[in-house]
Amino acid sequence: MALLFPMNLAKFASFLITLFVILVAGDCIRVICRIPPCPNKNPPLPIETVFRLPSSLPVWPSGTGFATASVSLGDLRVSEATAFDVVWRTRSGGPDNLGATFFEPSTADIAQGYAVLGYHSQPNNKRFSGRSVVAYDDLNGNIKAPVDYINLWNSLSFEIDQEGIGFIWLPKCPDGYKALGHVVTNSTQKPSLNKIRCVKAELTEQCEHYKWIWGAKGFNVYTTRPRNRGTQAMGVHLGSFVAQVGGVMSDIACLKNTKSDLSAMPTLEQVKPLVEAYGPWVFFHSDEKYLPATAEWFFENGGLLYKQGDEANPVAILPDGSNLPQGGSDDGAYWLDLPTDSDARDMVERGDLAKAKAYVHVKPMFGATFTDIVIWMYYPFNGPATIKFKFLNIKFDHLGEHTGDWEHVTLRVNNFNGELQSIYLSEHSGGTWVDATDVEFHDRNKAAVYASKHGHAFYSKPGLVLNGKNGIGLRNDCEKADLYLDTGFYYTLLSAEYLGTAIVEPPWINYSRKWGPKAAIYIQDEFEKIMKRIPKFLRSPFRNVFYTLPIKILEEEGPTSIKTKGSWYGDEI
Ligand SMILES: *[C@@H]1O[C@H](CO)[C@@H](O)[C@H](O)[C@H]1NC(C)=O
Ligand SMILES: *[C@@H]1O[C@H](CO)[C@@H](O)[C@H](O)[C@H]1NC(C)=O
Repeated sequence: MALLFPMNLAKFASFLITLFVILVAGDCIRVICRIPPCPNKNPPLPIETVFRLPSSLPVWPSGTGFATASVSLGDLRVSEATAFDVVWRTRSGGPDNLGATFFEPSTADIAQGYAVLGYHSQPNNKRFSGRSVVAYDDLNGNIKAPVDYINLWNSLSFEIDQEGIGFIWLPKCPDGYKALGHVVTNSTQKPSLNKIRCVKAELTEQCEHYKWIWGAKGFNVYTTRPRNRGTQAMGVHLGSFVAQVGGVMSDIACLKNTKSDLSAMPTLEQVKPLVEAYGPWVFFHSDEKYLPATAEWFFENGGLLYKQGDEANPVAILPDGSNLPQGGSDDGAYWLDLPTDSDARDMVERGDLAKAKAYVHVKPMFGATFTDIVIWMYYPFNGPATIKFKFLNIKFDHLGEHTGDWEHVTLRVNNFNGELQSIYLSEHSGGTWVDATDVEFHDRNKAAVYASKHGHAFYSKPGLVLNGKNGIGLRNDCEKADLYLDTGFYYTLLSAEYLGTAIVEPPWINYSRKWGPKAAIYIQDEFEKIMKRIPKFLRSPFRNVFYTLPIKILEEEGPTSIKTKGSWYGDEI
């Protein structure tokens, strides 16, 4: 008894400890942790949610190959894998330091006879929106299994927050064939040669790395895209990734639409519901004085054509623009301007939102596996700029203003499924791509985009964007005000070269000179005026920053024809 007691006590103690572990350390912690802000070890990542457009897609009128799940690239038929299995995930590094996830196209989901060309990877900071092109094996030798793999990298020795261990493999292709992507595994074992296919070199195009997905100590992964992009370029964007080890980028190719097959492009009957499904709502600032109109409205309301050497005799422009000089180059021989009468001028400068319409240009991209729907907006006038300098907002009298302003939003639509993939927003001389995952949808699948006050640069969110640094720069103010244009409703089809003569272009499309004169540069004048207006103690610091501002944006010169812009036939950036 005397001997048993301590044993029983020990047993009882161990029982108590076990009970404590189960109840207190286990359940209680779980219970306590339901009360924020108790940290969860693995909070859900954005990537764990699959991104879907907010509304179901319309039923497209029947056409040729648009939104039919597979696309003919001449010698090869391709489709898209849309279901994926997670192979490996890291929870740190990459964009927002949230890590990245590596996916294998789920074989259960891939149509019979199709083969994987590359695995997919995405940063964890956004909802999952993966796609991966798979190719149909018609057994003609266009695609072949690799002969071996090279293990490029693994995460064994990496002290990173990860689920399992990742191994990145580069397929070794038979002679005359190219790899279009990597294989990823979570074990040291070499993957089966059946995991992926190589493609005959003649059916491929040069690829380049694009957006950074993830990286750690000399290892990086990027998305890929064809090096040559545009309406005539036939490189196909795959949705796979490319790995870079110790500065060496893997040799990963893109596919090519070898016969410039346009059958996956939307027909004219399909273009209209596409514009109506995705045409964005453009919101203007509540203080916007210079609203959009149409080119025809500008002509009808007194727009003038000037000829160099005959400046005293400007000519009225016919309502359809048919008396504008056609072709030629931006040689300064002609330009457009506002009416000379000051009241008429003031009226035209303000545009006419009630009569405004967007102009739509439709073109193939990535070897006709995507459709770019370019929504062009015309404003008769671009107002003067405002500079933010410390606590001051300095409004210029003229700097930044010009007659005629063309801005655009490009909707990039996937031709396999008709889904909106991303939108491009023009901003001064550049612009930004916004993934569909980051778009603010305002009305079903139609985005809200914001035109900045006076300058009309497009942004995906309301608020202030400064072009400059350290809180000093050109203001771009956007607001979700009661002034807007639903471009999915108010639009005109302007051009779609791939549809032949289906869309009749207006005569003004081939006017290739400027839509506004090149005004005398007032930079020095405006600078001196501002110096007189601001407090003495700020004058010297202001002088120091003034000429570092993005003055190029402020040049007072009308834009050239939209057809002469690089993006008309090319990619955006
Ligand atoms: C390893 O990868 C396979 C897919 O190849 C996946 O099904 C499995 O869940 C992964 N294992 C772990 C532990 O993530
Ligand atoms: C504009 O020019 C192109 C190329 O020269 C031509 O194909 C098209 O028909 C012209 N459009 C108009 C409206 O004149």
